[in-house]
Amino acid sequence: MKILVVGNGGREHALVWKLLESPKVSKVICVPGNGGTATLERCQNLPMRVDDFEGIARFANVQGVSLVVVGPEVPLAGGITDFLQSQDLKVFGPTKTGAQIESSKSWAKLFMKKAGIPTAKSKTFIDTAKAREYITQQGAPIVVKADGLAAGKGVVVAETITQAYGAVDALWDQGVRKLVVEEYLTGQEVSVFAVTDGLTYRTLLTAQDHKRIGEGDTGENTGGMGAYSPAPLVTPELMQRIEREVLDPTLAEFQRQKITYCGVLYAGLMISPQGDIKVLEFNCRFGDPETQAILPLLETPLHQILLACVEQKLADFPPIEWKEKQSVCVVAASGGYPGGFQKGKEISGLDLEAEDVFIFHAGTKQKGKGFVTDGGRVLGVTALAEDFDRAIAKAYNAIHQIEFEGIYYRPDIAYRVKSKPPQVTPPPLVAPTEQDSTKEDSIEEDSIEEDSMIPEILPSPPSPSPASETPSVPEASTPPNPQQPPSNSV
Ligand SMILES: Nc1ncnc2c1ncn2[C@@H]1O[C@H](COP(=O)(O)OP(=O)(O)OP(=O)(O)O)[C@@H](O)[C@H]1O
Ligand SMILES: [Mg+2]
Repeated sequence: MKILVVGNGGREHALVWKLLESPKVSKVICVPGNGGTATLERCQNLPMRVDDFEGIARFANVQGVSLVVVGPEVPLAGGITDFLQSQDLKVFGPTKTGAQIESSKSWAKLFMKKAGIPTAKSKTFIDTAKAREYITQQGAPIVVKADGLAAGKGVVVAETITQAYGAVDALWDQGVRKLVVEEYLTGQEVSVFAVTDGLTYRTLLTAQDHKRIGEGDTGENTGGMGAYSPAPLVTPELMQRIEREVLDPTLAEFQRQKITYCGVLYAGLMISPQGDIKVLEFNCRFGDPETQAILPLLETPLHQILLACVEQKLADFPPIEWKEKQSVCVVAASGGYPGGFQKGKEISGLDLEAEDVFIFHAGTKQKGKGFVTDGGRVLGVTALAEDFDRAIAKAYNAIHQIEFEGIYYRPDIAYRVKSKPPQVTPPPLVAPTEQDSTKEDSIEEDSIEEDSMIPEILPSPPSPSPASETPSVPEASTPPNPQQPPSNSV
């Protein structure tokens, strides 16, 4: 069968690569694709705009494409699924109405309210004076969100009322005419993915990502600097509650509203220190970079899962199978990202060969026999191993071998799941006096406290001087078992 994938990021490279693992998939057309998809055997990049719905439909029909998979949210919010379906194509990805769960924060809030899904208390405004009044009443910290898609730039977590007023004005100046002002939540964030055919759903693996550009989750927001999967925070018990409190009511509400939602349901959750679940946001597509961490763990052929969704046969689908490994993806970005950056830098080291290491291209372009940078996030390097420590070490070993002018990656991806080096207390040189032993006790107490302290992601309000709070994360070490059997890299 032939499949057409829409998009050009690391997520799409991962999707195309995974689809092509099955010999049943004879060809994948990627619109427009990137340097990575260009080099995959049986993949053809089609240089067409993702909003050229007519062009995509014509090409897909001429080629006899059996399934279209839409990666990014923008074409989904623009109604690509509705149009392609009207041209007799099968599409994995929700219609324009369903995609509102991501494309309109106020729509999603109302949806959650109707469905009884736990989320932060909020109000929607079309008037800055009223928004300010509400902020004054509620106090800070508080969160201000643009209603529509904003490529990760529409949310301000304001530490003070003045910052919140500033956010309202700044968004208004950028042309945002609908704002959601929301209660500030604390806890750990986790991403939960499910695929659905509109009748039932299946959960995929969970993941946690790193959105900030800087070490210790500091600095500006980005499209994502790394991710790991599965998230140990989500125990089977917590997953059951997430299904009951979030996913079941979401699907039921879609059905109640007569929306046939086929595609990915991505719930961004905040888990409070007490274990309460609240939805921060929904997205209507695979996450990036999370998909680059999750898909290498998938055993079941991906095209079968996606086809079961578009054919509404998910209820009869066998259990989805996963590798019993842990996965870490580190993103390499162009220097300057998420601000201004240069393109066209030659990339070297992409031919590295290591078992369970996968290099996904995001912003790259083929030039002659090699590749040059062509975007802010350039590559995602994913490594799988029996545990996170080894996966982290493997991913960093691989990324250290890749070079281009200005390359930047965070040194601390997955620090929350990395085991801390054991604290060795040197034996006393002389028999401890009473005083000494008291001292030793107190040292031990300190180290126990530190050891058992799991760093919480406090979605820290943007602050210009967080350096002193940066968790110190040691560099990844060499893997304990550095053998490198035959290449399995993409
Ligand atoms: N109510 C809240 N309390 C605390 N932090 C929040 C809240 N809402 C959002 N955030 C923070 O802001 C980030 C972005 O928010 P949200 O996910 O709603 O925006 P988005 O632009 O849709 O993001 P994405 O690009 O991941 O889809 C969250 O990941 C979280 O860190
Ligand atoms: Mg979102």
